[in-house]
Amino acid sequence: MSKQITVVDGPHSAILGIGSYRPSRVVDNAEMCTMIDSSDEWIRQRTGIIERRWATDDETLMVMALGAARKALDHAGLQGSDLDAVIVSTVSHLTQFPAIAPQIATELGATDAAAYDILAACAGFCYGLAQADGLIRNGSATRVLVIGAEKLSEQLDKTDRTTAFLFGDGAGAAVVGPSDEPGIGPVVWGSDGAAKDVIRLTRHWDEPGDEPPYIHMDGQPVFRWASTTVAKKTLEMLARAGLTVDDLDVFIPHQANDRIIDAMIRTLKMPEHVTVARDISHMGNTSAASIPLAIEAMFERGEVKSGQLALIVGFGAGLVYAGQIIRLP
Ligand SMILES: CC(C)(COP(=O)(O)OP(=O)(O)OC[C@H]1O[C@@H](n2cnc3c(N)ncnc32)[C@H](O)[C@@H]1OP(=O)(O)O)[C@@H](O)C(=O)NCCC(=O)NCCS
Repeated sequence: MSKQITVVDGPHSAILGIGSYRPSRVVDNAEMCTMIDSSDEWIRQRTGIIERRWATDDETLMVMALGAARKALDHAGLQGSDLDAVIVSTVSHLTQFPAIAPQIATELGATDAAAYDILAACAGFCYGLAQADGLIRNGSATRVLVIGAEKLSEQLDKTDRTTAFLFGDGAGAAVVGPSDEPGIGPVVWGSDGAAKDVIRLTRHWDEPGDEPPYIHMDGQPVFRWASTTVAKKTLEMLARAGLTVDDLDVFIPHQANDRIIDAMIRTLKMPEHVTVARDISHMGNTSAASIPLAIEAMFERGEVKSGQLALIVGFGAGLVYAGQIIRLP
């Protein structure tokens, strides 16, 4: 037999630092209703959204991603040069290639870091975290930056009352590194490509049209899938990590709709002591950025503490979902 390949097991991994970028422009429901036929009351009751942020022209995807990344590196006490991989999850990098991750790595001084984009929509942060954990545990990387960044306002038909009020812009980032104890649990993830049309762009970029392609969504099937199929998967995320819902301190689901969060809480029979993220009220749905944005907001409001156990779960266009247990940095 020929010689065997050497594989060196790496350490456990954990999130070492978290950061976010919130665009400066706040669009409240009153302003929203100048664009679509709706009301503040309807939007609040059906989604929990009070306002969202839409980035200005100067707040590019790169500006937002770098803002979040630098805060996460500061929080971890590290510099860009300490990174050996940069993973960016986004559906908003409208240049198909080259990926935005290498440019972000270079701006951060992460010279020669592995850098690539992933497209897993609103599950993207959890997908990226699973990859970072795997890279560290199999010895392929030591410190990995995971960014979720979105400028969805560029892909919205602002007169479409089925989507315009739901989506917002922002970025969140996490630095993942070695740890003595497991800080990231096994991922539970999956997909259903048969439902590809329920959240999609209105047309291909190279198809003729006066307007750019916009986000189209059939809200009800997405709502049902998230509230039933994905909600049940959250139980597997706990079981795979050897935990029960009573062990949890924090629940941070993708911020898509307050009523989906409520359905998940019912499925999990979530105990009262668990703090639940409700960042949707001020940010809307920011896709891959929503979970790290929500984590940082909870830290800023003093709702969570370092070392607590959190269940995170993302779900969205594809359809795709992913989630795992994390220990907060
Ligand atoms: C989009 C969503 C908020 C719509 O809520 P809903 O309760 O399903 O609303 P429906 O589409 O059934 O419409 C109910 C009524 O409100 C009306 N309506 C729809 N959009 C409206 C709006 N923006 N303002 C006011 N009324 C609206 C409809 O016309 C309908 O009126 P009718 O009963 O007279 O026919 C909801 O389906 C949702 O959140 N889906 C999941 C979205 C999601 O998670 N997406 C991202 C995953 S990443």
